[in-house]
Amino acid sequence: MKDIYCLAIESSCDETSMSIIKNGCIEISTVVVTQIDIHKKFGGVVPEIASRSHIESITIVLDELLEKAKMGIEEIDIIGVTYGPGLIGSLLIGVECAKTISLVTGKPLIPVHHIAGHIYANNLSERLTFPLIALVVSGGHTDLVYMKEDYSFERIGSTLDDAVGEAYDKVAKILGLDYPGGPVVDKLAHEGQDTYDLPYPLDDKSYNFSFSGIKSAVVNLVHNEKQRGNEIRVADVCTSFQQRVVHILTKKTKNALKEYRVNNLVVAGGVAANKALRASLAEMAQENNIKLSFPEVKFCTDNAAMIGAAAYYAYQKGIRANLELNAKAIDSLYNGTKIND
Ligand code: KG4
Ligand code: ZN
Repeated sequence: MKDIYCLAIESSCDETSMSIIKNGCIEISTVVVTQIDIHKKFGGVVPEIASRSHIESITIVLDELLEKAKMGIEEIDIIGVTYGPGLIGSLLIGVECAKTISLVTGKPLIPVHHIAGHIYANNLSERLTFPLIALVVSGGHTDLVYMKEDYSFERIGSTLDDAVGEAYDKVAKILGLDYPGGPVVDKLAHEGQDTYDLPYPLDDKSYNFSFSGIKSAVVNLVHNEKQRGNEIRVADVCTSFQQRVVHILTKKTKNALKEYRVNNLVVAGGVAANKALRASLAEMAQENNIKLSFPEVKFCTDNAAMIGAAAYYAYQKGIRANLELNAKAIDSLYNGTKIND
């Protein structure tokens, strides 16, 4: 079969990224320009600034990518792009860029849902084996997904409020730590002890999650300690918070693996970089004889390589978009693939 080279574009939040991926699994080259330093002083992503930064970077990223890959645009077979969900202004820059390249080259345009990309980041390390359960843990999503085959997504559980990465970022903010909070809280959690009495988030038999309660408990804890004039042991708050979050994510994932009788677990999204989550899931997977896949750490947070991996399988399934493709700030991966409306 002919090799398929995908030029992939991801601009859904604060990373401008492009990648060339061969056959959905081999990274030829990737460029990621992150805006973290720009948004840090605001304590979070400022949408208007993010879209302006994407405009400034995108053509530079394309030139750099082709140079790094030593390829010409005519060697590309398909164009994959994140069409949603994400920040609408940011998404539009990537979508317009992809449509322009598709128009100029005449190559097929493949719309990719951001979460499909996060899941397929695992395919860059090792081929996914089906059926599988994917635990999606990012700044915008916390989902348990059943996949019986390539590009078939059935959500079996989801967060009822905050996503887990969002909870990490908010807890970091309350504690006066840098943005993005996840990596900082993760690091401090390994230096502290589980001494604070925080609630376990939605500890029930469902596959749903809820992280707003534990976040509010941290807000109240910090507020009360300040009022009493007590010093807050920041590392201990991080350890206590992380312990409970990781416990629940592991427990619900384990239940899903049992009920759906799969022996492959893939973890996806920015929080998949979390050291405690990796260790806890590894232990659980070993005890239950489950094959466990994590993306490489560099492919956990937003990048175009994962979009290029997913685009290949979307292409194989016949998914295409035309030049009417629009960005979608909110879109479900789980209700079929109506892309152009
Ligand atoms: O997947 P991602 O890059 O963007 C979204 O699609 O949302 O995820 C970003 C999220 C942020 O909330 C960030 O704090 C979190 O992933 N994150 C982590 C870690 N590294 C990134 N959370 C916990 N521990 C980490 N090591
Ligand atoms: Zn993401």
